[in-house]
Amino acid sequence: MSYKILPLISTEDVEKGIQQIADKIAEDYRGKDICLICVLKGAVFFMTELAKRIPEDIRVTMDFMSVSSYGSSTVSSGVVKIVKDLDESITGKHVIVVEDIVDTGNTLSYLLEMLKDRQPASLRLCTLLDKPSRRTREVQVDYTAFSIPDKFVVGYGLDYDQYYRNLPYIGVVEFDD
Ligand code: IMP
Ligand code: MG
Repeated sequence: MSYKILPLISTEDVEKGIQQIADKIAEDYRGKDICLICVLKGAVFFMTELAKRIPEDIRVTMDFMSVSSYGSSTVSSGVVKIVKDLDESITGKHVIVVEDIVDTGNTLSYLLEMLKDRQPASLRLCTLLDKPSRRTREVQVDYTAFSIPDKFVVGYGLDYDQYYRNLPYIGVVEFDD
C-alpha cells in the first residue's frame, strides 16, 4: 500500500509542548524526587527531552518498561504482557509514567492498575499525544502536550511498522486509495 507522510506538528512546536509539561512538573514536584517511567519504545525521545528540561531541585531517576498487547496488532485486547519490567522498585516513590500516545486507553489503564499495586507514593500519567476521540477505557491523563484527531501518526518515537520513529517532527500517515 502506498502512502505519504504529511507534517502535523513541527519539531519546534513539539519541543515547546515538552517544555510546557516540564514547567508544570517543576511546579508540581518542587523539592521532591521523582521517578520517570518510559514506556518503550515510543516514549524514548519524549522522555529524554522532558527529563533534560526538569530543573535540578527535582532529583530525577529514569526507568524503562516494555509492554505488548495480547491478541492481534490492530485490535487491542486490553490485557498487556510485560516484555521488560522495571529495574527498580517504585514503592514509596513519586512516579510519572511517560507515554508517546494514549489512544483507546487499554494499555495505560492496565499498566497504571498494575503499577498502583506496587504502592508508589503517587502515580501520574504524562503523554506527548492524546487521541481522546478513540478512548474506550477511561484513563486519567495528568499531562498532555497535544490532543490530536483520529489520524495515524508517526515520528518523535512513534512508528509505522517500526519505521519513522526517528523523524524529528510528528507526521500523519496518509494512505493513497
Ligand atoms: P492504546 O492501548 O489503544 O491506548 O494504545 C496505545 C499504543 O498504541 C501507543 O502506545 C502506541 O504504541 C500505539 N498507537 C496508537 N495510536 C498510534 C498512532 O497514531 N501512531 C503510532 N502508534 C500508535
Ligand atoms: Mg506506546
